[in-house]
Amino acid sequence: MSYVLGVDLGTSGTKTVLFDEQGAVIASALREYPLIQPQNGWAEQEPDSWWQASAETIREVIEKSGVKAADIASLGISGQMHGLVLLDAEGKVLRPSILWCDGRTQAECDEITARLGRDRLIAISANPALTGFTAGKILWVQKHEPEVWAKARHILLPKDYVRYCLTGEYYSEMSDASGTNLLDVPKRKWSSEILEALQIAPELVPPLTESADVAGRVSAGAARITGLAEGMPVAAGAADNMAGAIGTGVAVEGKAFTTIGTSGVVFAHSDRVQIDPKGRVHTFCSAVPGAWAVMSCTLAAGLSLKWYRDTFCDAEITTSALMGTDPYILMNEEAARSPIGANRLLFMPYLMGERSPILDSDSRGAFIGLSAMHTRRDLLRSVMEGVIYSQRQNLDVLRGMHVVPETMLACGGGAKSPFWRQMMADVFGMPVKTVQNAEGPATGAAILAGTAVGLYPDIPSACAKIIREKEPLQPIEANSRAYEPFYQIYTSVYPALAPVYSALAKQ
Ligand code: XUL
Repeated sequence: MSYVLGVDLGTSGTKTVLFDEQGAVIASALREYPLIQPQNGWAEQEPDSWWQASAETIREVIEKSGVKAADIASLGISGQMHGLVLLDAEGKVLRPSILWCDGRTQAECDEITARLGRDRLIAISANPALTGFTAGKILWVQKHEPEVWAKARHILLPKDYVRYCLTGEYYSEMSDASGTNLLDVPKRKWSSEILEALQIAPELVPPLTESADVAGRVSAGAARITGLAEGMPVAAGAADNMAGAIGTGVAVEGKAFTTIGTSGVVFAHSDRVQIDPKGRVHTFCSAVPGAWAVMSCTLAAGLSLKWYRDTFCDAEITTSALMGTDPYILMNEEAARSPIGANRLLFMPYLMGERSPILDSDSRGAFIGLSAMHTRRDLLRSVMEGVIYSQRQNLDVLRGMHVVPETMLACGGGAKSPFWRQMMADVFGMPVKTVQNAEGPATGAAILAGTAVGLYPDIPSACAKIIREKEPLQPIEANSRAYEPFYQIYTSVYPALAPVYSALAKQ
């Protein structure tokens, strides 16, 4: 029996899962690390905390499982997208990574748009210049930290850095490179036109592969630290959303998923390049060669609920610790006691500014309609509803582009909540399924790893072999009708608040 490892480098932590070749989970381990927020709207992490978490979790799953390192056929990595990792000539990290949810680069994005022209940039990189994407972060370092930029010899994305620590080799792959604003997404190669316009020497970006290609082998040093066998193949892997797609079987046209992780994503697979000319949703290369994905990104989805938990839910945290359960279970019960519409309270989930569909890094969270009659449970329910309304607004953009999913799978930590899943089915007005193997991106990374070494003939057949869907939750018609007016009001709030956000950001 052969085994494969999937490492999922997330924003709140890294999870490593060891699977057998049928996709059964043999062992898993998780290490968390902090999000550093040096200023309002900024977000950074130390790349070495990712490597340490990856190395420790790999060692832990090998030890826990009792599986011999020599029986592990390969490893694949999935990772948070867009983060900028800069290395010097010796491969040393030059500064903390500036993350996907960091909103400091609006001026740099305006500069990129001015240099290339908005239409030309969207035609090549399939996306407008966005503060979350990597190119704006590069320009920010060029401008604000010229001494760091002068030493930079390698530009990597978060999971590509961890793969580099494992193998000593510099690579990236199409799905993650799609989120840099530097890739020619339809042609699947770095855009020399964009690199030149942004004064980025082409030797700074790594060679590209597809996701299920081998992109290096475990070095002797990494083998000592992790317990892996020296020389074991490491697959290129994929960006978390594209790996999550593979891990939920969204590898063929007509399939889609919604994630509630730290960020929230609505993702549809597409065999053609389809681009929203307004740039409200992203077009990225899929982990499946020759295919693409259209997806939205709500910056603070699970993050909104986590913020609410950490700020207002001491009681649930303490009680759940005593009961040995998860505070989110108690919070769900509490939210369910408030009616649909949370007694006429709306929450805008723009805690980190917002990307899809409003593209405004100055926007911030808001409770609208707050009254002295509201209780904590109304606030809690409105946070959960606001996250789902935001996903619905993005699904409506996809539908407007004639990307109309037939099935919707729910994944990410938030999908564990039956209450939140039912809300999704009701607000989306469509059945929502989950998959039996709930490891999402880690499963996807492991499928890519297995495909890279020939355990599976190709990605779609690996998905067909491994992924099992559960019975869907059906939308409840009366609930859908009750949510609808609140959703419509929700969509009118941002246009009304936009000037307020802009004025506040200038203070
Ligand atoms: C996608 C995005 C997020 C991160 C989260 O564009 O920014 O989903 O990948 O990990």
